Amino acid sequence: MTTYSLGSDDAELTRLEQQSARIAEPTRILFRAAGIGPGMRVLDLGTGIGDSAVILAELVGPSGEVVGLDNDPRMVETARARCDGLANVSFVEGDVTRAPGDGEYDAVVSRLLVLHLADPAAVLRHYLGSVRPGGLVVTLDYDTRAAGAEPAVPLVSEMFGLVAATLRSAGADPTIGSRLQAIHADVGLEDIGALAITQYLPPDSPVGPGLLAGVVRSLATRMVSLGLVTADQLDVDTLHDRLAAALREAGAFFVPPTLAASWGRRPGPVPHER
Ligand SMILES: C[S@@+](CC[C@H](N)C(=O)[O-])C[C@H]1O[C@@H](n2cnc3c(N)ncnc32)[C@H](O)[C@@H]1O
Repeated sequence: MTTYSLGSDDAELTRLEQQSARIAEPTRILFRAAGIGPGMRVLDLGTGIGDSAVILAELVGPSGEVVGLDNDPRMVETARARCDGLANVSFVEGDVTRAPGDGEYDAVVSRLLVLHLADPAAVLRHYLGSVRPGGLVVTLDYDTRAAGAEPAVPLVSEMFGLVAATLRSAGADPTIGSRLQAIHADVGLEDIGALAITQYLPPDSPVGPGLLAGVVRSLATRMVSLGLVTADQLDVDTLHDRLAAALREAGAFFVPPTLAASWGRRPGPVPHER
């Protein structure tokens, strides 16, 4: 059983927005590599506040359509408000472990969702019937294995360690990015491909400290209740500045989690053969 541990308070919605800005270009590259393009009808599972759906909408263009699905009403409400005016995007509330696919799609996509699922293959199998034969399943998620600082900075390592332990305690898998191809093979997809993108942020960039302090803030209550750390030790209000100072002093590059993608086709005729 997995519990989605990041919540949807104001700070978490801001964190999602900042995270999305950082990974927007890698996401575009990975979606394009997977074969997302003009005219496609796409279902975005675990769409959050709509950032992944907006990139998909840009790629499918006005002749395509994107439907975003999320089980958190606050996410859906925020996504609808943010995308008001975008004619080719809509949002639906529903749980990906049971909500129906509602029609046929050229692609079923998710970004930063499967990490949190107890059985990602079961969820993708559930939506396979909503993908047309020859259509795509595209999954983007993190592999935190290489995340940290170069050279190593103890505070950065400690915080990434706490984040990984807290996610694991909720049944999530922070290194799932490295297993996406295996999951797609298990689902029965064909023509499986994969690509991953890592970024290196310079010592004076505020982006890394913002990213790490933000995710620690969203998980802090759970970290403390698990007994991994005390609130005083975490001191979330000063964490961003302490991380930034430690990286600057060490002249260290911040290495965020790798954004990995895998894609594959539902067995059946490819479009030009139909
Ligand atoms: C980390 S956010 C990613 C949001 C967005 N895809 C992005 O890349 O910015 C994960 C989202 O998955 C949603 N989620 C988690 N478990 C879910 C489930 N069982 N059914 C539907 N949505 C779920 C959460 O509510 C959250 O909005």
